[in-house]
Amino acid sequence: MKHTRIKELLDSNEFGKEFIVKGWVKTFRNNQFLAINDGSCLSNLQIVIGINEFEDQQVKKLHTGAAIAVKGILTESQGKGQRVELKATCLEILGESDPDKFPLQPKKHSLEFLREIAHLRFRTTTFNAIFKVRNALAFAVHQFFNERGFVYIHTPIITGSDAEGAGEMFQVTTLDLDQPARNDKGEIDYKEDFFGKQTNLTVSGQLEGELAAMALGNIYTFGPTFRAENSNTTRHLAEFWMIEPEMAFYDNNDNMDLAEELLKYVIKYALETCPDEIEFLKNRQAEEDKKKPQNERAAMNLTEKLEFCLLNDFERISYTEAIEILKRSKPNQKKQFKYLIDGWGVDLQSEHERYLVEKHFKKPVILSDYPADIKAFYMRQNEVDEQGRKTVAAMDILFPGIGEIVGGSQREERYDVLTKRMDEMNIPQHEMDWFLDTRRFGTAPHAGFGLGFERLVLFVTGMTNIRDVIPFPRFPKSAEF
Ligand code: 4AD
Ligand code: MG
Repeated sequence: MKHTRIKELLDSNEFGKEFIVKGWVKTFRNNQFLAINDGSCLSNLQIVIGINEFEDQQVKKLHTGAAIAVKGILTESQGKGQRVELKATCLEILGESDPDKFPLQPKKHSLEFLREIAHLRFRTTTFNAIFKVRNALAFAVHQFFNERGFVYIHTPIITGSDAEGAGEMFQVTTLDLDQPARNDKGEIDYKEDFFGKQTNLTVSGQLEGELAAMALGNIYTFGPTFRAENSNTTRHLAEFWMIEPEMAFYDNNDNMDLAEELLKYVIKYALETCPDEIEFLKNRQAEEDKKKPQNERAAMNLTEKLEFCLLNDFERISYTEAIEILKRSKPNQKKQFKYLIDGWGVDLQSEHERYLVEKHFKKPVILSDYPADIKAFYMRQNEVDEQGRKTVAAMDILFPGIGEIVGGSQREERYDVLTKRMDEMNIPQHEMDWFLDTRRFGTAPHAGFGLGFERLVLFVTGMTNIRDVIPFPRFPKSAEF
């Protein structure tokens, strides 16, 4: 007889029928009521253990965390809190769990504590809900692009280029770092390395994605990316997943339209397919919120926030307009920002982004046309404005509580303009010959963006620390498993 998953049993009306269930013990009350979960849903199944029907030896092992198999008859529950229960006729302990050693007890543990035992936190209801939502969002991303004829391209994890030019790469090497081979000048000789050159873990699949887009038209990547930035924040990981679509014949406005459509599609999908998980996370967040002072509490609960995001057009403004708003803003006038905005050209900090989204517009904002000097070499240069200011056709999407969730641009497709910019930024052209071929042969306008997957999961789950929305977070000084 096969076992049935708990989710199916909880919806079943086959009373009187015998079923086998398997799962982990959550609680055991009064030597009679057992709550077990098998991961199929957030709710537990109540199992009634008839008093004196089972050997003491077995009943004594029914501790939180133990794995068990139970055969029993499905009945309508007389008790409050559940519709059905299973009257046990047969019980088997598959794996014991020593209550003095098992760190998870049937009570609410803090997220900080759970982060320290991240290898076990899958077993909590909170992380069950988070990873179900994460799964639904990943599925929705693939569905969105495939419905629109985009091709999923697997770009390399190990690369020889620094796509963002930000120098935040993890090096990949097989050299003996104690005694690396050196050339005449005393520099490390990468000819001796596995690939015969210096390589690193990718920071973005964009440049390789562009190669594919210039033949297949519309493509997307969805894979892990790595950044060795020493940012110990609630928004940064050293290993995160990024979704990067790249579209031939798109300009920056088309790019913004697609990004807004994608975000709304995947949020709607999660709301529709994970109602129990989102309801659970909403209540969780509301409880956390109650602990905060009145003026710091969220104006909307999680579902209201997600629905609000679906119903409203994102605000679209240029960097230059944003600077004007920020200059005139109260926190800038009253010197409450850590970094005061006094001129054009500075990069925006997350305090500025969050002011625009949370205080000024009170909705998602798409900022475009940033100064060329604070953006990557591949972004398309706009006409110089009347005041001689150079901007690029970039766009960032800023979300409440998150800040930047998407970064993208129209790409510089003009060979001469691109190579001149690479020279200005000291990017060696000979190393990027493969990339420049797209501009040499049949170059065409194109655009794309990168959506940080964990930042999306943060927004949809209402969690506040990015380390809680990825199963195995990687951040400075942490990579135990
Ligand atoms: O703005 P970024 O650096 O853009 C790129 O990498 C482009 N090549 C994307 C493209 O146009 N194809 O990163 C894109 C997004 C950010 O908006 C943010 O959501 C996320 O990736 N991100 C991070 N998420 C978690 N931890 C980090 N350290 C992140 N760095 C960027
Ligand atoms: Mg960015």
